[in-house]
Amino acid sequence: MSRLALLFIALLMMSGCSSAFDNSVVVQPTYGSIANNILSPACLSCHSDYGSYTFDSYASVINAVVPGFPSESPLYVAVSSGRMPKIGPKLSNQQIQAIGDWITAGALDN
Ligand code: HEC
Repeated sequence: MSRLALLFIALLMMSGCSSAFDNSVVVQPTYGSIANNILSPACLSCHSDYGSYTFDSYASVINAVVPGFPSESPLYVAVSSGRMPKIGPKLSNQQIQAIGDWITAGALDN
């Protein structure tokens, strides 16, 4: 096999490991757990550094959140309605609940 083909396979495997969103992962109601397990693998491919909402840092995520009020937070409304992520597996109920609990508790940078 050529070196180019091997490189291609290696890249495919790496992208599969780093970007796959797994909706069976149990997420804690903290910014760190939500960012690592949901926002980064399921949202950043579309919402990174352009568009109405970006989710690449706490400062940007908080723009889509009204601390204390999940139902008024675009982030929560988008995932609980099932509208986001636009492609790929939907979040589990547990994961949606974790986002809601994090917002209810004040959406801290924790
Ligand atoms: C495949 C691309 C894609 C992915 C993945 C994606 N979005 Fe979106 N998102 C969009 C587009 C495009 C819009 C603009 C509105 C539309 O076209 O529906 C949008 C709009 C939004 C909005 C604005 C309110 C709304 O519903 O229109 C929020 C909030 C949002 N997305 C959150 C998320 C979250 C959270 C994730 C990950 C769980 C996510 N998105 C994953 C493409 C994506």
